[in-house]
Amino acid sequence: MIKTQNYIKDNKDRFLDELLELLRIPSVSADPKYKDDVKKTAEFIAEKLRSAGCDKVEIFPTKGHPIVYAESIINPDYPTVLVYGHYDVQPPDPLDLWDSPPFEPVIKKTEIHPEGAIFARGSCDDKGQVYMHIKAFESMRATGEQNCNLKFMIEGEEEVGSDNLGTFCKNHKDLLCADMVLISDTSVIANDVPSITVGLRGLSYLEVEVTGPNKDLHSGVYGGAVGNPINVLCDMISSMKDENNHITIPGFYDDVEIVSIEDRAAMNQAPFNIENYKKELGINATQGEKGYTVLEQTSIRPTLDVNGIWGGYIGEGAKTVLPSKAFAKISMRLVPNQKSEEITRLFTAHFKSKAPDCVKVEVRPHHGGEAAVTPTDTPEYQAASMAMEKTYGKKPIPVRGGGSIPIVALFESVLGLKSVLMGFGLDSDDIHSPNEHYGVFNYFKGIETIPYFYQNYHELKK
Ligand code: BES
Ligand code: MN
Ligand code: MN
Repeated sequence: MIKTQNYIKDNKDRFLDELLELLRIPSVSADPKYKDDVKKTAEFIAEKLRSAGCDKVEIFPTKGHPIVYAESIINPDYPTVLVYGHYDVQPPDPLDLWDSPPFEPVIKKTEIHPEGAIFARGSCDDKGQVYMHIKAFESMRATGEQNCNLKFMIEGEEEVGSDNLGTFCKNHKDLLCADMVLISDTSVIANDVPSITVGLRGLSYLEVEVTGPNKDLHSGVYGGAVGNPINVLCDMISSMKDENNHITIPGFYDDVEIVSIEDRAAMNQAPFNIENYKKELGINATQGEKGYTVLEQTSIRPTLDVNGIWGGYIGEGAKTVLPSKAFAKISMRLVPNQKSEEITRLFTAHFKSKAPDCVKVEVRPHHGGEAAVTPTDTPEYQAASMAMEKTYGKKPIPVRGGGSIPIVALFESVLGLKSVLMGFGLDSDDIHSPNEHYGVFNYFKGIETIPYFYQNYHELKK
């Protein structure tokens, strides 16, 4: 891999410039006004895969945003790795909280990133991490050191639930035939504490609408007698957790995977400093399910959170109104064995049963997905572990992550493929938040590590 590593060194500036160019295209999947930019991003990715040396590159349109597919099949005896990632990004809002415009990338030094970090929406999640794979492939290909067959599937709808990717996988099983899936869309514990994500949580996401009187009312004339849907919604939400932060929906925990005491002890060996955690977030105390550590609360335990809530008057000044309606977006992070559809059903039934007679409620499900866990005693995991050990000089720690990538469970159920989550971001990179950034160190560490993964996988699969 010497030639590959030298090629990477010789092309550093260009590799960085190209990523900045990619980050300038605002590929916001959630907002229809960016539709053309999302398409342009797909074309950019396709073009770069072509020039990196893929011999088959195709943009598949979907009902939503396009999927970029490319492959480089060089030897039928080599193992085949399907690289998955997403080129779409979260909306940049709220814009006024960004120190520099979200789609005008700048490199600035920070305490955690003394070598500089690229500030832009999508820099870490996931354009920067996708682009590492394209440049790692280019480097191996250009130096004749490619030793796995590669397929790339880079989608444009991950941040909105990957609605069309499941169907695409079902309809293209032959095209996507591979030995495993490799994904860089997660984080490491720290730049000197490498880790590999071995678990993702599932998700059930829904929106509720609570209707009281048939129109907005004067809160003096009617207040006191007519149920206020915002007050009612708040009561209903707060009744969904008890004093131990245990979720009160009947049946919610029935299928939750019980993690053994030994596994929990191992999990809590991962370096974690509660004081730094609180300081970084500006909080005086954490709040989570009683009986579990923060690391457990954010990985092996399910959650219920309000993501947005609105209703009534929120303009300037005061308006004395008793509103007709109140709304909330609510999500539940799920753990292995909980089924997203079942949890959505349980929530809906419970929420409706809790509604007092003075209101009507509606529950509308959004997207969902299942949790996933990956074993560590496989050639796939070992190849990643050895690759990181080589470039970080330390063996990575397997950790369960709290986020969700719903397609990972579908790769297993539809394509029969296990995924390896070899991500290079940091949890402090502010993905989905203002001032998202990605370390220049992390970007190049990824590009350097990925070729070793392929080399190891090639050897282990012989
Ligand atoms: N890359 C993230 C998921 C992630 C982040 C996993 C950090 C582990 C650590 C992904 O892009 C994401 O944001 N997923 C969404 C789910 C999706 C259905 C909108 C999430 O987790 O909220
Ligand atoms: Mn992502
Ligand atoms: Mn994301």
